[in-house]
Amino acid sequence: MKNVDSKSHVRGESVYLDDIPLIEGTLFACVYDSQVAHGVLKIVEISEAEKSEGVVKIITAKDLIGENQIGGIFPDEPLFADTEVHFQGMPIALVLAETEEQARSAAKKIRAEIEPLEIVTDPRVAFAKNNLIVPPKHFKLGDTENAFKNCEYVFEGRADVNGQEHLYIETQGAYSIPTEQGGMRVYSSTQGPTAVQRCVSRVTGLPMHAVEVDVTRLGGGFGGKEDQANAWAAVCAVGTQLTKRPVKYALHRMEDMRMTGKRNPYSADYKIGLDKDLKIVAYQVVFYQNAGASADLSPPVLERTLFHCTNSYFVPNVTATGYSCRTNLPPNTAFRGFGGPQGMFVIESAIAHAAEKLNVPASQIQQKNLINDGDEFPYGQIAESEAVTSWTQADEKFDFAKLQKEADEFNRQNKFVKKGVALMPVCFGISFTKTPMNQARSLVHVYTDGSVAVSTGAVEMGQGVNTKIAQVASTVFSLPIERVKVHTTNTLRIANTSPTAASAAADLNGRATQIACETILQRLKEVAAPLVEAETPDDVSIENGFVFRKGEPTDFDWLKLVNEAHMNRVNLSEHAHYATQGIHFDWSIAKGHPFAYHTYGTAIVGVSVDCLRGIYTVDFVKACHDFGSSMNTSVDYGQIEGGIVQGIGWMTMEEVVYDKSGKLRSNALSTYKIPDIYSVPKTIEFIPLETTRENLAIFNSKAVGEPPLMYGIGAYFAIRNAVKAFNTEISPAFDTPFTPEKVLMNLYSETVKKMKAKT
Ligand code: MTE
Ligand code: HPA
Ligand code: MOS
Repeated sequence: MKNVDSKSHVRGESVYLDDIPLIEGTLFACVYDSQVAHGVLKIVEISEAEKSEGVVKIITAKDLIGENQIGGIFPDEPLFADTEVHFQGMPIALVLAETEEQARSAAKKIRAEIEPLEIVTDPRVAFAKNNLIVPPKHFKLGDTENAFKNCEYVFEGRADVNGQEHLYIETQGAYSIPTEQGGMRVYSSTQGPTAVQRCVSRVTGLPMHAVEVDVTRLGGGFGGKEDQANAWAAVCAVGTQLTKRPVKYALHRMEDMRMTGKRNPYSADYKIGLDKDLKIVAYQVVFYQNAGASADLSPPVLERTLFHCTNSYFVPNVTATGYSCRTNLPPNTAFRGFGGPQGMFVIESAIAHAAEKLNVPASQIQQKNLINDGDEFPYGQIAESEAVTSWTQADEKFDFAKLQKEADEFNRQNKFVKKGVALMPVCFGISFTKTPMNQARSLVHVYTDGSVAVSTGAVEMGQGVNTKIAQVASTVFSLPIERVKVHTTNTLRIANTSPTAASAAADLNGRATQIACETILQRLKEVAAPLVEAETPDDVSIENGFVFRKGEPTDFDWLKLVNEAHMNRVNLSEHAHYATQGIHFDWSIAKGHPFAYHTYGTAIVGVSVDCLRGIYTVDFVKACHDFGSSMNTSVDYGQIEGGIVQGIGWMTMEEVVYDKSGKLRSNALSTYKIPDIYSVPKTIEFIPLETTRENLAIFNSKAVGEPPLMYGIGAYFAIRNAVKAFNTEISPAFDTPFTPEKVLMNLYSETVKKMKAKT
């Protein structure tokens, strides 16, 4: 089953924000943003800009009719800086002009006088100054303090994991249009239409019912538009409110890179204790999260870091602490995995550290400690684990020992090219960790021509959720997929949506769609029963557009039945609600059952490092992945491949660089390297896990959006192993990304040390 968008994508006909036909009178917006990372805003000088050609209005904080506040979780983020600036790229003023070029050239004429304050970019420095976004978070299982005393081996170290630019192909943007009685319709490139609606309502002072938000699709979000689409919709809405004209803003790439937050970087201290059989007995970890200048989604991201701090392993004694540290960088935010990958990197580092010191393969420690059915996660949930099955099935199919032997053999024969392999098990919890967010609604209409229209709270952003939703309706009604159309995500049709995030969109919105369709189907069966002389509606079924009685064909087809129902004044529409059952979490004790289920998998990653130049290729990623029973293998395989490549990019080449002044140095594609066709693994091969377990996903499929990204972490450790194959004395720091520059520095670090010692 192909993605329902595939044809219109290939033809260039799919509609993104920038493709929406413009209404006459549309103004174009451009934000003037701070060039100082921290300071007191003394004067904003706009008179020159106001005189600039085509300028209609310039807006600053004092012009807002509603609140100058866009913080979703905490009210700590003004839309426009008023008294202070907190990061380079913070919006200060908004220019509205007749053309895009005029808006941008006028913005360049604005001047701000800012009295500098101390700039902090390092989370550990922010921590030392007690500059935290929220009070620290803790997870505790067992008793680490005592457990460490009884460990045979204890290792301590530090791991640093950098951020990641979302680099969705479609940049952030919005288009707001005035509607009657002071209301507005806002088109937004957002994962969270309700978040945008709430934010627009707040800054304009309009009630939410006066604000309609509509989303056709995104050219990628990856978490970057879960919360951070709000600001751009808000500036457009404020512009519309104050000029009574449509306002559009589609950010240029460099504006987007400069002004928006990224994946949260972390610095962490770990301590790992093992017994003589290499069982991990105790694990202690402290995370310093770089939140940036305001909360945004950093607190729940930090929580998910804690939830995944032991990855696929069972550790009986765990103490995990997280600090969300306020720095003068753009507010960091959700990014595929939502803090989970950062937490996993740290325990994988701790295991690699122990393996190195004990001179055993890391895979031996990994395998010995995989979580089993009945084991407890540090947050109290009891595992229904596929960690061992996915490991075993991957091993049976791909033969780890053989792959390792091939690499060893190669390394014996080659001096300047070294191969490294690493295993990367993944266990990712599915559900928003904030339980109330796990709800969704679906509105289904069956029209009298027999076609079906579906609206849900899910946003299509390339991950194929619309295809899956259409499949749900077509499966329940037993109709060809062409008879079903999934419409835009619109706050008038579906209210109070959770963002499309946490890999849960198909589960939640798919389930709601299933309920809506089943309700309509039941009504149709009731209409059909007397018509086809069935004793009860249960004797009626609809298959491939025809009505059956006890499995026997009748004279009725779908179209005829739908029209009979309509003539009998039977409701052919349904608005259904779904809320995941059985999940809960209590932060006062940091225990509960937050996840509907976990998605598991095991990958093996192989790389070759050129030890003269420091460059490398990822030769293969081979994985056993738990799809449950996949609803759509072509969509899911696409998610796996894309996730793996995005994860490898994060771990190896994508380097977010801010200088000490808080200026983003990697601010364009010339200075920020992402995977291209030449750097994707030569082979990506995976097998679906064979399992029959029931779960809470839609049609027993399992969420696939985020977990595969974490296989990419294996690339870091594979490169590290290759470097160590070049020189066993080298012990590269756990510090991502492992760029070719860093590889080169590491390869020769021992040589340089020795040379220095001689002189
Ligand atoms: N795939 C594509 N093509 N584009 C995206 O923006 N976002 C990822 C993942 N896969 C994304 C993607 C993220 S961060 C999430 S949470 C899930 O998709 C969200 O969609 P789902 O809930 O339907 O899996
Ligand atoms: N995942 C993704 N997005 C979220 C979450 C989560 O657990 N919680 C709030 N937003
Ligand atoms: Mo995904 S980071 O939950 O949008």
